[in-house]
Amino acid sequence: GSAALWGGRFSSGPDAVMAALSKSTHFDWVLAPYDIAGSRAHARVLHGAGLLDEDELRGMLDGLERLETDVADGTFVAAEADEDVHTALERGLIERVGPELGGKLRAGRSRNDQIATQLRMWLRDRLRDLTRGVCDVVDALVGQGRAHPDAVMPGRTHLQHAQPVLLAHHLGAHAQALLRDVERCRDLDRRLGLSPYGSGALAGTSLGLDPAAVARDLGFRDAVDNSIDGTASRDLAAEGAFVLAMVAVDLSRIAEEVILWATAEFGYVTLDDAWSTGSSIMPQKKNPDVAELARGKAGRLVGNLAGLMTTLKALPLAYNRDLQEDKEPLFDSAAQLAMVLPAMAGMIRTLTVHTDRLAELAPAGFSLATDIAEWLVRQGVPFRRAHEAAGACVRVAEGRGIGLDELSDAELLECDPALTPDVRTVLTVEGSIASRDAHGGTAPKRVAEQYDRLVGAVIEA
Ligand code: ARG
Repeated sequence: GSAALWGGRFSSGPDAVMAALSKSTHFDWVLAPYDIAGSRAHARVLHGAGLLDEDELRGMLDGLERLETDVADGTFVAAEADEDVHTALERGLIERVGPELGGKLRAGRSRNDQIATQLRMWLRDRLRDLTRGVCDVVDALVGQGRAHPDAVMPGRTHLQHAQPVLLAHHLGAHAQALLRDVERCRDLDRRLGLSPYGSGALAGTSLGLDPAAVARDLGFRDAVDNSIDGTASRDLAAEGAFVLAMVAVDLSRIAEEVILWATAEFGYVTLDDAWSTGSSIMPQKKNPDVAELARGKAGRLVGNLAGLMTTLKALPLAYNRDLQEDKEPLFDSAAQLAMVLPAMAGMIRTLTVHTDRLAELAPAGFSLATDIAEWLVRQGVPFRRAHEAAGACVRVAEGRGIGLDELSDAELLECDPALTPDVRTVLTVEGSIASRDAHGGTAPKRVAEQYDRLVGAVIEA
């Protein structure tokens, strides 16, 4: 039957309301392949410890294999009375190999070390998916940057015109943030490389089982050093939720810009039809729904992180059932990003960039004022005075409704005696951008070097 794993000391089954509260099969079923892999490894260490003979091991592994196939094709599913995925799969094994043999597998393990191990295995796989998905977005950004190597645009601070930059430099900034997220996946994977299997309920196992052997069998480099920590800690789950949330937040910053850029007021980009939506009432509309959903889901992922952290706060050692609440937020964050990442990559890849509009706006807002100040500094003028002089140029030009490059020789001299007509050589967007040529700057040469490293990092990931 489908009895619970802990019926012995109880005279009645759980109340239906209790059972409904307790049940997790509707969300932890995704762990089934990891549970079965763990059972296989566990059967082997039971055999190694002399607790299963050769025939029993073979029978057990055969039963697990049939169970795995049945789970994969949906023949075996959770029953109403199964409390969680572990309970259901033990029932499934017993149905296939009989209660005598099937009943032996639970020796020396607990759902507490099982779930802790399976969550780590699941998270390691999702971090690999995440790395692929994030690299695809980076690839889309790099693709746009490389397709428009000379495109200039207004660089902004406070969303106000600041200094002109290359579009490729701006897109590269988003790519850099995403590549740090990829690095976070790698760092976290290393910490996830220790297996809690063998920790038992909390105190370890007395049956002569070899946790390191199970660990290696499951792709971990070793077993955890502390069985209490192994079963009760979820900081790595929280870190997973953070990395997922950080990716979502980084995507939301790209999304917000695309939303702005696609407005008539900015006019920087046009969205591809396949990656935008229309309005049910306004026939002219083309809406940036991909970007808006990405921006919206970032809030959801931050919420999942906050929820998980709050569950962990002040939780005493060792395992508490509260920890069952770790899975839904984490699973949800991963599932949301699995949809958002390819959509963002598709949207970015298919953007039409209006380089003429970007170029038109690049010198707007007196964005070359800093270039006047820095030109004066190169003439030996102290920056403090140079800043004042460039500010005066802005004031005069603004008053007359003209650009900095349109100030007369006399007006320039009035702003500062050192402002000879030669200053006009730096009053072009291209000149300004080319002059920022130190490491990390927006000069075309530096941006090209940056892109070589970006592409190298993607290949390495
Ligand atoms: N389903 C539980 C969880 O998600 C694992 C089982 C541990 N349950 C227990 N009563 N000790 O954490």
